[in-house]
Amino acid sequence: MLSSIAMVLTLSAISVIFFLCSPTVAILLGRLTLPSPLVGPESIEFDRNEGGPYVGVSDGRILKFGAPNEGFKEYAFTSPNRNKTICDGLADFSEVQARCGRPLGLRFNHVTDELYVADAYSGLIKIGPNGGAPTQLFNGIQPQQGNDNTTIQFLDGLDIDINTGIVYFTQASANYRFKDIQTLESSRDQSGTLFSLDPRTNETRVLMRGLAWASGVAVSRDGSFVLVSEYLANRIQRFWVRGPRANSSELFVQLTVRPNNIRINPRGEFWVAVNGVLGPNPPPRPAILPGALRISENGIVLQIVPLVRELGDEEISEVHEHNRVLYAGSLHASYLPISTPF
Ligand SMILES: *[C@@H]1O[C@H](CO)[C@@H](O)[C@H](O)[C@H]1NC(C)=O
Ligand SMILES: *[C@@H]1O[C@H](CO)[C@@H](O)[C@H](O)[C@H]1NC(C)=O
Ligand SMILES: *[C@@H]1O[C@H](CO)[C@@H](O)[C@H](O)[C@H]1NC(C)=O
Ligand SMILES: *[C@@H]1O[C@H](CO)[C@@H](O)[C@H](O)[C@H]1NC(C)=O
Repeated sequence: MLSSIAMVLTLSAISVIFFLCSPTVAILLGRLTLPSPLVGPESIEFDRNEGGPYVGVSDGRILKFGAPNEGFKEYAFTSPNRNKTICDGLADFSEVQARCGRPLGLRFNHVTDELYVADAYSGLIKIGPNGGAPTQLFNGIQPQQGNDNTTIQFLDGLDIDINTGIVYFTQASANYRFKDIQTLESSRDQSGTLFSLDPRTNETRVLMRGLAWASGVAVSRDGSFVLVSEYLANRIQRFWVRGPRANSSELFVQLTVRPNNIRINPRGEFWVAVNGVLGPNPPPRPAILPGALRISENGIVLQIVPLVRELGDEEISEVHEHNRVLYAGSLHASYLPISTPF
């Protein structure tokens, strides 16, 4: 727990870092704790009947939160070769994680009740309406595109256009795998990709290349554009799907902090999970200030919410607004903080 003086100092540091407008102090409402020793609820989702939250965790499973006295229970897994004896209870960045799977971006198609998952190692995955075993939709081999084969190294973010069912997902980097995330973090890598997959044909398209750690992705309310965050470049790009600028991209917003996952809220605005980095890069490790930005469809920052009380100095990965409450995901925490900034 930070003392109130440390909190004031941290808040002023955050206003300097974000320097766009003064931050809102969120009220921490509670925490949903993962079953020990699991960590890393990177992305957060709810089903059509408000069930959940669902989170992907370090041992390759997707867990669903039931009633408060039940806590999180296994819902599905993502690696076709997963072995429960070896994998259950696995920590992040373990040697066998590639075999166990590591679910990152999660999103339900609320028409079909299928859960789509960007698994860092296993590729693009679909889980049926009752959970359980995965169906692999894309693992990087595109024979129909001749010599354009891509090997999946590190899938990261995912979103779905609710009107067309088209899935948008990112590969963070073509050079680093998820287990090399710390090396990627201090690199100048620019090999990230934004993909789309049309479930009606299973056709995968490359929409943007050369991204500096393509982390999060979000579809606009009307489906006319898709946002993709570049963690290492402190910026968010906009790819136009329809309209006069279709198939082209432009800068959406330049930030001074690192943007991770992006989630649309019920009002068509975007919540971006961001990390302010204070001080030089390692060694040992710069101080991290986790927070959330609420950004309009026009790229205007409407609200800044520091989430230091919620996550300490853990890097934040996602902010998901559900019933006017924010759920915050991260790669290292063993819990999911819930708070309100309204
Ligand atoms: C899973 O791993 C355990 C321990 O290595 C092994 O005994 C078992 O045969 C494996 N199960 C499968 C289905 O491969
Ligand atoms: C692309 O992948 C397919 C399927 O694995 C393989 O048959 C083909 O030879 C690959 N093409 C190239 C140019 O690597
Ligand atoms: C798409 O791929 C999935 C998984 O391989 C398969 O079940 C489905 O039939 C395919 N759909 C089409 C339209 O080819
Ligand atoms: C965008 O690209 C797709 C795939 O190459 C193509 O089918 C579509 O016609 C293009 N749209 C425009 C407006 O250029």
